[in-house]
Amino acid sequence: MTDTTSTATTEAEFVVVANRLPVDLERLPDGTQRWKSSPGGLVTALDPLLRSRRAAWVGWPGVPDVEVEPIVDDDLTLHPVTLSQAEITDYYEGFSNATLWPLFHDVVAPPAFHRHWWNAYLAVNERFAAATAKIARDGATVWVQDYQLQLVPRMLRELRPDLRIGFFLHIPFPPVELFMQLPWRTELVRGLLGADLVGFQLPGGAQNFLFLARRLAGMSATKSAVGMGTRPGQVVVGDRTVRVGAFPISIDSTALDKLSRSRPIRRRAAEIREELGNPATVVLGVDRLDYTKGIDLRLRALGELYAERRISADDVVMVQLATPSRDRVEHYQRMRNDIEQAVSGINGEFGRMGRPAVHYLHQSIPHDELTAIFVAADVMLVTPVRDGMNLVAKEYVACRHDLTGTLVLSEFAGAAAELTSAFLVNPHDLDGIKNAVEAAITVEPDEGRRRMRALHRQVMTHDVQRWAKGFLAALGTVDNP
Ligand code: ADP
Ligand code: G6P
Repeated sequence: MTDTTSTATTEAEFVVVANRLPVDLERLPDGTQRWKSSPGGLVTALDPLLRSRRAAWVGWPGVPDVEVEPIVDDDLTLHPVTLSQAEITDYYEGFSNATLWPLFHDVVAPPAFHRHWWNAYLAVNERFAAATAKIARDGATVWVQDYQLQLVPRMLRELRPDLRIGFFLHIPFPPVELFMQLPWRTELVRGLLGADLVGFQLPGGAQNFLFLARRLAGMSATKSAVGMGTRPGQVVVGDRTVRVGAFPISIDSTALDKLSRSRPIRRRAAEIREELGNPATVVLGVDRLDYTKGIDLRLRALGELYAERRISADDVVMVQLATPSRDRVEHYQRMRNDIEQAVSGINGEFGRMGRPAVHYLHQSIPHDELTAIFVAADVMLVTPVRDGMNLVAKEYVACRHDLTGTLVLSEFAGAAAELTSAFLVNPHDLDGIKNAVEAAITVEPDEGRRRMRALHRQVMTHDVQRWAKGFLAALGTVDNP
């Protein structure tokens, strides 16, 4: 983070509300503290957009029990919301990440339902709504983000009916049968219907929501018109109309394309290949360490390919970067153990002295270094069992202006709807992943370039600015009393 001051303006015309601020407060062992970039795709997408507006961002600073004054960072005012340790346990690790996260990701882990977690979710959503109501100027636009804050639209509308409220869900919206498991399903749907516009990554999510709005909240919903942003569906709630649509999120592709072409990054990419022992092929995985990302599946595929001598660790080396994430939630701890065991198993069997087959870093990597790693990699593996979008896939593609490199992409990532020229795989089909990895490693250069040309064009023309413009234009056209 750049220089900050605490002379915040009190009222904002445009407010983003998200569980996390774009920066996390870090307490160092010597007692001092500093701000560092927050993890995850939500921040990656929104941060560059807001730096060019005079906006406010309401969010949690990432540590328990801190009271921080508002901070002005560039043109953006950050309004920290305090969470106690108990709220982090019940609202963040509990209801958000051990109930909603697995439920919305096709129950790939069993969601836990606890009433005290729900109560904490209610209380924290109320706090976010109250904090936003306090700083939004009369008639301001408020954009609420993601699954942690699904009750905020309705709570905020009750406090401030003058506001124009948008909501965007970054993760998948689940199939109706799965959503129906949630004991508080009606409250959640009603919470979202407090918005003027509810946005999802894909049309399927918008359709599921429209169905549920009719079924659970007894609203009249027009399902036929669900479209990609410009033709959203509608729900009539009393004298208001709530629009519902799909707005696939993206990245700042121009900035990343430019950075990836720069001399220092290209020089560093060459160095990285050297540090890896100049293998013929560098295979890469970059994820938050999350059980939805299918890191275990790709490691299994790679291990079997080595074992069957379809590839050799002399030629093919893998780099797996995994940002630490939600490490107090049991399922994350288990997944971390599984992954680390798999890495050491592969290295034990196929590595050589000073030459592991898999280089694994459980660390968050600085942006420039990560860009150089994208440039250095020949094959990118993105194999989630379910993912709202997956910005990593788009980041890799944005770094391939020279049309080299291949992308293996799960059909179950939202990005697969756009990146159709990737090697698409069903992540549950291990043989399918193995075949796709082998095909991506051995692809003919012409065929590889043809695929990457289509992917690169898609990512360059559908960037995060276009996403935000589409959403905000649709929000701007909602004319409610
Ligand atoms: P999610 O939002 O579920 O974490 P995305 O793929 O949409 O998944 O976004 C992840 C973001 O985090 C991307 O911008 C990616 O570059 C970044 N990221 C992932 N792993 C790392 C890492 N080890 N170090 C730094 N950034 C990372
Ligand atoms: C995903 C979610 C975001 C979340 C991010 C990082 O991108 O959609 O809402 O912020 O992961 O997760 P964390 O739990 O660390 O905020």
